Amino acid sequence: VAAASGHTVVLVDQSDEILKKSTKGIEESLKRVTKKKFADKPEAGAEFIKKTLKNLTTSTDAASVVHSTDLVIEAIVENLEVKNELFKRLDKFAPEHTIFASNTSSLQITQMANATTRQDRFGGLHFFNPVPMMKLVEVIKTPMTSQKTFESLVDFSKAVGKSPVSCKDTPGFIVNRLLVPYMMEAVRLFERGDASKEDIDVAMKLGAGYPMGPFELLDYVGLDTSKYIIDGWHSLDPNNPLFAPSPLLNKLVEEKKLGKKTGEGFYKYK
Ligand code: 3HC
Repeated sequence: VAAASGHTVVLVDQSDEILKKSTKGIEESLKRVTKKKFADKPEAGAEFIKKTLKNLTTSTDAASVVHSTDLVIEAIVENLEVKNELFKRLDKFAPEHTIFASNTSSLQITQMANATTRQDRFGGLHFFNPVPMMKLVEVIKTPMTSQKTFESLVDFSKAVGKSPVSCKDTPGFIVNRLLVPYMMEAVRLFERGDASKEDIDVAMKLGAGYPMGPFELLDYVGLDTSKYIIDGWHSLDPNNPLFAPSPLLNKLVEEKKLGKKTGEGFYKYK
């Protein structure tokens, strides 16, 4: 999305194999966007894809890339220790002006900022699946984020074609604080045997106008990600029934049924 809006992007991941898969995914996604956006101008569409891919390179070495970046957007595993270790390392190599942002779904931005020496140039930039389609970005300001950094993150969100909203550094920010308890309540409804998952999905699509039902959405987001979020909140606030872990969700994650990405979650995928 950043490359498509004219930014120079370096995508960093752990191995060339993952990067190859990611690049293929980006190409597929670009083709889908282009098919809609340039429906009657296939040549302009092909040019758009070419230009976007020219803006995108890949690397497996974050430290060597970061010396020439203005903005780092971290979107790694939802584990505070691992994130902090990465930010601490990048902080040593990044230029003074570089802003660090996390795309975390549920962890505290303040704790990550504190792993670095640039607490004022640190914030949250939370995007939504599927990013090419979802217009929202949550921009998170910690008590240490400077106004200039916050404004830069808002400007960047607009420059990539998104609509930013702002939220304090509070668990789940706006969307996940409402969405995750809702999805967990759906799982509990199903676990109690009150309704089938298929009927719950139909009900929320046709009765509440949601584009996906809660089980379809859980599979789409990833059951491992959903479990990370709920387990983290449960440990912060064990008495909140909305944050209670679900035996069914835990079982599926244990069986490596993580949703669409592994071919099976609550539903099976081809
Ligand atoms: N890349 C590019 N374009 C995509 C895309 C992708 N990954 N996924 C969908 N599209 C576009 C394409 O243009 C597609 O057209 P195509 O089928 O011709 O390629 C068009 O969307 C329509 O897609 P579909 O026909 O497959 O299905 P829908 O009309 O139902 O739309 C949807 C798909 C946009 C995913 C819709 O179902 C939706 O809005 N679902 C809810 C998503 C949601 O709630 N996301 C938030 C999750 S929470 C989160 O991310 C936070 C995290 O922290 C947990």
